Amino acid sequence: MSDPRTNDPRINTFRRRLPGVVYGGDYNPEQWPREVWQEDVRLMRAANVRLVSLGIFSWAALEPADGRFDFSWLDEIMDLLWANGIHVDLATPNAAPPPWLATDFPEILSVDRQGVRHGIGSRGHFCPSSPVYRDRSLRIAGELAERYGNHPALAMWHLGNEYHSDCYCDLCDERFRGWLRERYGTLDELNHRWGTAFWSQRYGDWSQVHLPRPVRGWGNPSRELDFSRFTSDLLLELVTRERDLLHGITPDVPATTNFFGCRLTDSHRWAKELDVVAFDCYPDPGKPDSMAVAAFQYDLMRSLGGGRPWMLMEQAAGAVSQWKTNQVKQPGRMRLGSYQAVAHGSDAVMFFQWRASRQGQEKFHSAMLPHGGEKTRTWQEVKALGNELRAVDEVATARTRARVAIVWDWQNWWAVEGCAHPDNTFDYRDTVARHHRALWNSQVAVDVVTLDDDLSPYRVLVVPNHYLMARHHTAAVRKFVEDGGHLLVSYFSGIVDEDDRVVEGGYPGALREIIGAHVREFSPLPAGATVPVRAAPGPTPLDGFLATASAWQDDLETETARPLAVYREGHLAGGAALVEHELGRGRAVYVGTRLDDDALEALVRQVLDRAGVRPAHAAPRGVEVTERRTETSAYLFLLNHRQDKATVTLDRSGTDLLTGRRLQAGERLVLDAAGVAVVRSPPATPQGADRSSDDS
Ligand code: GLA
Ligand code: ZN
Repeated sequence: MSDPRTNDPRINTFRRRLPGVVYGGDYNPEQWPREVWQEDVRLMRAANVRLVSLGIFSWAALEPADGRFDFSWLDEIMDLLWANGIHVDLATPNAAPPPWLATDFPEILSVDRQGVRHGIGSRGHFCPSSPVYRDRSLRIAGELAERYGNHPALAMWHLGNEYHSDCYCDLCDERFRGWLRERYGTLDELNHRWGTAFWSQRYGDWSQVHLPRPVRGWGNPSRELDFSRFTSDLLLELVTRERDLLHGITPDVPATTNFFGCRLTDSHRWAKELDVVAFDCYPDPGKPDSMAVAAFQYDLMRSLGGGRPWMLMEQAAGAVSQWKTNQVKQPGRMRLGSYQAVAHGSDAVMFFQWRASRQGQEKFHSAMLPHGGEKTRTWQEVKALGNELRAVDEVATARTRARVAIVWDWQNWWAVEGCAHPDNTFDYRDTVARHHRALWNSQVAVDVVTLDDDLSPYRVLVVPNHYLMARHHTAAVRKFVEDGGHLLVSYFSGIVDEDDRVVEGGYPGALREIIGAHVREFSPLPAGATVPVRAAPGPTPLDGFLATASAWQDDLETETARPLAVYREGHLAGGAALVEHELGRGRAVYVGTRLDDDALEALVRQVLDRAGVRPAHAAPRGVEVTERRTETSAYLFLLNHRQDKATVTLDRSGTDLLTGRRLQAGERLVLDAAGVAVVRSPPATPQGADRSSDDS
């Protein structure tokens, strides 16, 4: 598969300066005396560190007073790193404005929804609209680019850090009005889009329009939705302005910023503006599903990259410190999680942070090099992994081809968790994650997309609870099914348009013809209540299907669809819980309730089966299977998440890159608990095929 951006000079720079799988982490030398720097680079070399993210929180150290710069220490560090062969992902330090900036210009501080202006002493406390903040943060970014643009250590730019600063100040209020004027043109249009006829909200003058500050009761949901869109756009404007400035000075140096799954920033839109996608991932070792959630996030990042590199920019070497109880990663689990990112397409394994801080808010957050130094288990594992990763360098640039896509959309996230819905306990992220988990347990490759993306590469499209659907989304889904795709869509989907206005014509207005059924009434279930479900009478592809429904029931009336499963009890007993509909050359399955995990997985497997999508390799449950390919090789990743050994009978011959062992087809490969194998073979099937039945 060709890389769509191989002609991009910045991606070429990335590949040239950072070949192979990149290892490293955030480096904060300003917290340490110079003697320690020498030890740092010595140990970085010992661990095969190739890249450090530098200067993320260095603004105060680089500009101690307005316009007075001190780059001497950074000069020294850049040279020291380069003398040791280590590249730098140099940050623009805008995430933590220094005290002088907030004191000289208090308006740069962000304001919360209640109108309280934040103080200094933490980070992220800036107003994204503030002209002074914008000016000073761009100025220092420009200074860094001018000074280090030609430094041989510079490999990439790290714009800010985890953008998440929303603000409700007067400057942002003004900007919000401007954003709305641009979006809607006239006040009449705004009144129409926001449905202001309800509760006497009609605006007669633009000066009456404000961002959503606290209100007496429920706030207008369309305004909330637009404020979310605005905030994402506003923060993205900071990113693109900085990016443009840096690209102007260093046209060949790629720029990224690190995503972290933040609700405020629509990463689908953001990723389009970046050269490289980067992600910070902190799966909770104490939660059984956290590795499945990580897989979902990694699939999202790879999909956002769309062929551009994506990097695991931060993870913890052990425990974090920001939760109530911070559990450690048990022996081997950090390694396993690192390979998991690579298995899902990451070309980097990086950490927050290199050396554990002795002071400050995160002094008990793990690091590559713990307070206890070189004797610690964490350091030993970090060092071993960095050296072992050399063996898989060749997988960098290898691509993943998925025949299954799941929809995850920020716009829908903002809308579906809006106020005064039939069920106000709904958690979109959890819902999409559990649909993804059913696919993950089925061991198939999955892309994470929106309905704005090209759906033609996929055989199966899973659309969990997609409440907000614009007209062109309906058209895209219809085309997908008519062209032979297999759609799985769950309840409370296709209900409103992009203005949060109910699509008329009976629920789900935007999907009714596609699913061939109509929801007469939404019937949410109280917490803890369940209703048994079984396969519909007569022959059905779901023979023997048994499930437990909770949270929600659609009172479904089949039109051109047929019932697949029915409720066995309650006021909807005998009514359809699941329906299927043939449309064009494809098929839609609609799920009108929340199925228990096992039933959801059984249903997902049935859909995959009908679509002819199979895993890259058979493996026992709890062993994750992925494949990355180049023109000449297929790399099979086998990751044992279980607490015990697992055996995989190989369907191909190849070489395990981690042990160098030659493996024969039919051989039983034993993976220890937390064990990993990366098996290289020549690609057995045509490039890009997931061995689905219709591949040619
Ligand atoms: C985020 C930040 C880091 C650090 C870690 C802690 O990802 O970017 O600076 O605070 O969290 O887990
Ligand atoms: Zn503001």
